[in-house]
Amino acid sequence: MVKKGKKESETPSKETFEPLSFEGKTPATVVLLLSSPEEDILIKACETVHAFAERGDENKVSLLGLGALEPLCQLITHNNRLVKRNAFMALGIMSTHGVSETYVTFVQEFGTLCLASLSVDFVCKTQIFDNNGLPPVIQLLSSPDPDVKKNSLEIIFNLVQDNPSRLAIHELGVIPPLLELLKSDFPVIQHLALKTLQNVTTVKDTRNTFREEQGFDRLMGIVNNKVFDLHDLHAEALQVVANCLNDSECLEFIYKGGGLTQLMEFLLTPSKPEIQANTVKCIARVAQSPENRKLLHEQNVENILVELLSVADDGVKTVTCEAVATMSSHLPSKDIFRDLKSIPSVVRLLRSESLMVREAATKALSDLTHNNWLNAFAVYEAGGHEHLLQQLSECCPSTVASAAATLANMAEQDEIRCSILSHGAMHALVEPLKSTNTQVVVNTTLCLAALACDTASRAEVGGLRTLVDLLHSNHKDVLHNACLAVNICASDEPTTVEMCKFGALEMLKEINQSVNRRNRFSELAMTSLLKSNLPVKYSLTGCLSSTDLIMDGFYDAGKRVLSLEELSGQSVDERRAIIVINTATEYEPQTQNFKLKKEEDKQKDEDQPHSPTEKRWKMMNDVSLQVLVKEAKESILPLNDEREQYVALARLVSKAMGGGVELEKLHEFQWNLHLSELKFQLQSNVVPIGMISRGIFCHRALLFKCLADCIGLSCTLVRGEYNRAWNEVLLFSPAGSSAQPSCYIVDLMHSPGSMLRVNTPAAVQYQTI
Ligand SMILES: *[C@@H]1O[C@H](CO)[C@@H](O)[C@H](O)[C@H]1NC(C)=O
Ligand SMILES: *[C@@H]1O[C@H](CO)[C@@H](O)[C@H](O)[C@H]1NC(C)=O
Ligand SMILES: *[C@@H]1O[C@H](CO)[C@@H](O)[C@H](O)[C@H]1NC(C)=O
Ligand SMILES: *[C@@H]1O[C@H](CO)[C@@H](O)[C@H](O)[C@H]1NC(C)=O
Repeated sequence: MVKKGKKESETPSKETFEPLSFEGKTPATVVLLLSSPEEDILIKACETVHAFAERGDENKVSLLGLGALEPLCQLITHNNRLVKRNAFMALGIMSTHGVSETYVTFVQEFGTLCLASLSVDFVCKTQIFDNNGLPPVIQLLSSPDPDVKKNSLEIIFNLVQDNPSRLAIHELGVIPPLLELLKSDFPVIQHLALKTLQNVTTVKDTRNTFREEQGFDRLMGIVNNKVFDLHDLHAEALQVVANCLNDSECLEFIYKGGGLTQLMEFLLTPSKPEIQANTVKCIARVAQSPENRKLLHEQNVENILVELLSVADDGVKTVTCEAVATMSSHLPSKDIFRDLKSIPSVVRLLRSESLMVREAATKALSDLTHNNWLNAFAVYEAGGHEHLLQQLSECCPSTVASAAATLANMAEQDEIRCSILSHGAMHALVEPLKSTNTQVVVNTTLCLAALACDTASRAEVGGLRTLVDLLHSNHKDVLHNACLAVNICASDEPTTVEMCKFGALEMLKEINQSVNRRNRFSELAMTSLLKSNLPVKYSLTGCLSSTDLIMDGFYDAGKRVLSLEELSGQSVDERRAIIVINTATEYEPQTQNFKLKKEEDKQKDEDQPHSPTEKRWKMMNDVSLQVLVKEAKESILPLNDEREQYVALARLVSKAMGGGVELEKLHEFQWNLHLSELKFQLQSNVVPIGMISRGIFCHRALLFKCLADCIGLSCTLVRGEYNRAWNEVLLFSPAGSSAQPSCYIVDLMHSPGSMLRVNTPAAVQYQTI
């Protein structure tokens, strides 16, 4: 429509596209063209307005009279970049200078209002900044007109939400006018100034300027102003203070000027909860660095915080707990909090209706009890452990993590640990152990480790499978704590067997082999598991040390990791026999290693009639082995010399397993057939070692280790390739030439009783094919 009217009164439409046709236009026409729908025309029109305004203040006045401002303001949101840019430039030039007060104010008010509404938009913000819009707007902060001030503040506030403006602004001298505006009679201006300060004081350089301009004193002026109802301003002013206190240089400055004392005094004067909460937040922020905590401690901040714990407002309680938690990193403060009887108060907050309060209180307890057993005891005395156990089923992850951490801290004391356990702690840990939140899992595994150090508690550990599954984790702390917990749970055999069933050993072996995943506890956990599960140790590592004593129920299944019960359930096959040790005269396996079923399972089994397939597996009696043990005790123990004892034992073993076999005749030694016959006869792959009358390296070395352990002789058992295995013993050389014993391999095959010094050709030949 506009275009049409224009066309009628002015030029024919085909000529509008001629650039030259602009030159002779009157300002009125150009202003009209600012409403054209044609982008080319708009670009030119803005340019022309810009050029015209540049020529003098009179021109600006006449443009204003012609209503140029309104269309220009609209054009700065135009889609076309050039239109937008030119409109900005035109507006810029029109607002920079003025001939008369009214003109200036009018343009400024209108222009700033425009920009203020535009500056909410991200693209516009960027454009205002890119086009150097900030300096003139900052100048306008000192305008006498309150509307212009407010609009300009709004523009600045919007701009400093983004990094480029926030970082650049302090160089543009924004702080002094902002501080001046704090004194404004208009609360809306004070608010905006404070909000802007809040944003810009997050930048270090800006804080320096702020400090130099006595910003803190002016803020405290607002904070301490009790004449007016300024509570919104208080809160905002405190946020700015908090920003400054987070800066060590600023803090020192404020501290020296007595600002910190002022702030604490302010805390103690009754005020609105929001203000108290904000002041405590300030304190908590200050407390983030160790030096500051020391300062605050010297100012007795603990007394104030303890008092605030009993304020009714949940917000105040929450931030106070947070401040207590932060201050607890300062060791003397921890004790003071206890002396001030704050711990029962914090424990009481665990029952708060407010999730926020509970979360903060739990965190405070976790920090208060960290490395401080007196505090842990105080929590216990206040009955905190029962509430903390309930917190383990909260939905807020950080509450659960803190509760677990606190319980872990408390569990270091036996009395408390027993009490925690008696309230069903092991059961309560199962769910958080499965959490998807890393912090929760990290702290729950820690708690589990702390609680699982008694045998009785380990029997109750639920979620062993979950714990073992955590060994898959790639998170460093989760893995570390899971290894720690597994290591502790591995102190007893039923738990160990259970964990091995879930694959703990294989996973730990993998972890130990990975440079990235290995940790302080992974190898320890593996060692602990293996220690109470020698058959698995032998199968996985191929080596038993002289301190690994073979007991009844030990078996050699090669490299297979299965329980003896599982192995004996398999039907007879072609694979190598599983050789089992049982010296016991009773029927029941009374072993350390093989309580394969948990008590309740046994109970279940006994309650039900056994069908043939379900029949509980029992280890066979091994009378021949019993005879051999007896013989070893009678004939070898009385010998005086250790070497003689080893030699005699080697001969005993060799004799039991078919005697010496010359190296060349080894292939004629029909041990394999013999073992197949035994398996067939027993209808089992599991063969008691005493029944073997033709055995080679692996059988003889195992028997040697077994008998040596029975009579208290030291030796190792090492598995080689192709059914080789041997025993190493430490002996002084026959001539007594050396003070150090040397390591020998005991020949049990070719020349039984010979001692082959390790690494000699004879020894190597014995160990390999
Ligand atoms: C700026 O301050 C306001 C509060 O006035 C806050 O909500 C906002 O997150 C801050 N923005 C930035 C980017 O810091
Ligand atoms: C305090 O300053 C540090 C860096 O100096 C910053 O990482 C932290 O976020 C700041 N804290 C607050 C609450 O502003
Ligand atoms: C988890 O435990 C650690 C160690 O005790 C503690 O520092 C941390 O604060 C706890 N996490 C939470 C969320 O409480
Ligand atoms: C763990 O790995 C290290 C380095 O590879 C190895 O020396 C050690 O024997 C391994 N530990 C166990 C128990 O296998």
